[in-house]
Amino acid sequence: MRHLSVPRDQTQVWLERCKANGWLGDTGVLPLSDGRRGVPLNEDAPFDEDPCWEGLTTIDVPPKAQSPKHWRERLPSDLQKLPDSFWPSSYEVQGDVLLVKVEDDVLPHAEAMARAMIEQMPSVRIVCADEGVSGDFRVRDLRTLASRDGSQHTATTVREHEFIIHVDPSEIYYSARLSKQRLNTYEVLQAFRERLDHPLIVADPYAGVGPVFPLLLNHEGLVSGYIAGDLNPKAVNLLKTNLASWTRKSTSSLSPSIVVCKDARAWKEDAELRGKANVVLVNLPHDSFEHLPDLFPLFNPSGLGLVRGWAIVERTSLNGLVAKLETMVVAAGGTPSDTLVSEVKGFSTTRCFVVFQSIITWH
Ligand SMILES: C[S@@+](CC[C@H](N)C(=O)[O-])C[C@H]1O[C@@H](n2cnc3c(N)ncnc32)[C@H](O)[C@@H]1O
Repeated sequence: MRHLSVPRDQTQVWLERCKANGWLGDTGVLPLSDGRRGVPLNEDAPFDEDPCWEGLTTIDVPPKAQSPKHWRERLPSDLQKLPDSFWPSSYEVQGDVLLVKVEDDVLPHAEAMARAMIEQMPSVRIVCADEGVSGDFRVRDLRTLASRDGSQHTATTVREHEFIIHVDPSEIYYSARLSKQRLNTYEVLQAFRERLDHPLIVADPYAGVGPVFPLLLNHEGLVSGYIAGDLNPKAVNLLKTNLASWTRKSTSSLSPSIVVCKDARAWKEDAELRGKANVVLVNLPHDSFEHLPDLFPLFNPSGLGLVRGWAIVERTSLNGLVAKLETMVVAAGGTPSDTLVSEVKGFSTTRCFVVFQSIITWH
């Protein structure tokens, strides 16, 4: 295949010139001897002596081998005969850990699939079969299918909104899909801070590894203190690591700055934890409404409070949820306002995932 031989520092110029003129071949740039580069040319490119080449010469060498565009092209050849629809069409990557749901018929070939994925994706260290979420901690059952370096752990870091979060998908719950909700929480809290006219104390009793906090803590003057916790001790360890890294550069000190490993329903019994928060976040989607009555005592009983949470509810109950939330606030001794319940996404044919929120005036 014909390539234009160019000095290395002129590669970009000639690539763009050839592309603009419709002369660029569809393979990649080749390294040549003496630090030169070969820009691939197609059949429309002018002959060698054409003045457009400004004295450069062309050479005939084999084209750069195309690297596979999809991991399926890296499977052993007998498996490549299977239709694309046989293989998983999606997967999730958390840091250097790839999580993939494997159907029964793919199981016998799962290891070959995982090897192909590792070869295709240089940033992936380990591929795990995701066998679903279980227990109160909402942690996934993971089974290692292949590891690039033999390591078996799933501790890793992810980047969300430009912040680094320590996670471990086999030990704790974390979902990148809720990052948009966390951005919304940040915006809602900024508006609430303006309304209160002072920085906020935020309680997040189901914090997991704390992904809601970096945006809040990074905003100077938004938060004056936090109480964060989780029932899963492994999540609490990572929560501590994360909070330490997100507050390292902070100039103002946060008070309170408490991390607890405790059932959220029991926080109200601890004088250190109750009666302090301006904001309470409730992220236990299967049980949020059931837990709410035990969480109201966490609010600072003077002034305004904001409760914001997420729940999975029957679609048929959607219309009654604002009234249900307001009734709970009134039963706790507060007056609700600006109450909203809004669908975030469908969860199943009969259930949906909602965000709920109410501003509470305490008497
Ligand atoms: C859906 S996750 C939310 C985690 C985190 N807020 C996030 O968005 O990534 C719910 C968390 O609540 C924790 N949890 C479950 N039951 C709890 C309880 N009774 N008290 C406190 N935390 C609990 C789980 O371990 C899990 O980390």
